[in-house]
Amino acid sequence: MLNIGILGFGTVGKATFEILQERIDVIEASVGDEIIVKKIFVRNKNKHNYDNIDANLFTDVISEVVEDDSVDIIIEATGDVGVVYEGIKVAIANGKHIITANKEMVSRHFEELNQLANKHDIQLKYEAAVGGAIPILCQIPKIRELNEIVEINGVLNGTCNFILSAMEKGMDYNKALLDAQQAGFAEADPTADVEAYDTVRKLRILATLAFGVKVAEDEITREGIINVSKKEIDTSKKNGMRIKLVAHAKKTKDGIEAFVKPTEVEINSVLGGLEDGENAVSVVCDNAGELVFKGKGAGGRPTAFSILSDFLAIACK
Ligand SMILES: NC(=O)c1ccc[n+]([C@@H]2O[C@H](COP(=O)([O-])OP(=O)(O)OC[C@H]3O[C@@H](n4cnc5c(N)ncnc54)[C@H](OP(=O)(O)O)[C@@H]3O)[C@@H](O)[C@H]2O)c1
Repeated sequence: MLNIGILGFGTVGKATFEILQERIDVIEASVGDEIIVKKIFVRNKNKHNYDNIDANLFTDVISEVVEDDSVDIIIEATGDVGVVYEGIKVAIANGKHIITANKEMVSRHFEELNQLANKHDIQLKYEAAVGGAIPILCQIPKIRELNEIVEINGVLNGTCNFILSAMEKGMDYNKALLDAQQAGFAEADPTADVEAYDTVRKLRILATLAFGVKVAEDEITREGIINVSKKEIDTSKKNGMRIKLVAHAKKTKDGIEAFVKPTEVEINSVLGGLEDGENAVSVVCDNAGELVFKGKGAGGRPTAFSILSDFLAIACK
């Protein structure tokens, strides 16, 4: 029997639980074991009343999950970087494998958490933290076995791509942001997205893995989309270009050059073809050339797909 503890039951945590339930037969057959969700940690357990889920599964005490000896794997989807970060360290010390979608926590504590995971011989996986549904992080070690990665270019934030796409259709920034919030792309506080902190965190994780050296958040030049004007977008369009919030990292003779900023890209290019919430990552390698990964950059089920891919990678071993 394989026991799971879930931290967070919002958009991503709930979608993960639902897919797990819907596909339990296939997943159990792949894993070769029975899979049980033992406990779900949330902020307010009284809020979580569902016809088909036992209310006793919910707790607002994190130690009931991370210190439960019977829990084998933790799925973390809270976004919290305080009590949950502390709880994750306890879980690792208790020998539990960790799967997280929390890019802020992973970016902030990347080296520490990975070292802790190695020390306790557990697996720490965070595919869902970068690029939503796109299976990119799992490919990086395979690519690096046979290549040097020399450059990465990506669009890694669905909210910004949605807003920039809407502005191309004539909408002003504020209305586009409101639409992004109503469509479930943007948070109530969109600062992390539109000021590009979110993309910087994702690039920090991706570039560190791709180049095998620490690329810290403060080494990445950051500019968000709040000052992109309708006029700039229209001018780009007339020239066969589109403005995208591009994440770029490149190996140079002086080290890693990295930025996140609104950048003109050709309409017919990989990044130029992205619409609404789509994300893409282009990885330029010395042997394979350019490899392109594209998909839904956010949303409950796309992100849950990445979480459960990590789950299968751990559980099927
Ligand atoms: N949404 C996406 O499309 C997406 C895509 C990629 C990655 N992610 C990442 O996935 C994570 C979760 O995102 P989400 O959109 O699912 O968030 P969400 O809908 O706001 O859900 C957050 C869940 O975590 C719980 N939670 C938050 N802080 C907590 C705390 N301090 N203590 C206990 N429980 C806490 C909340 O409890 P209550 O229900 O009781 O409030 C809620 O169940 C974040 O790290 C986010 O960056 C999200």
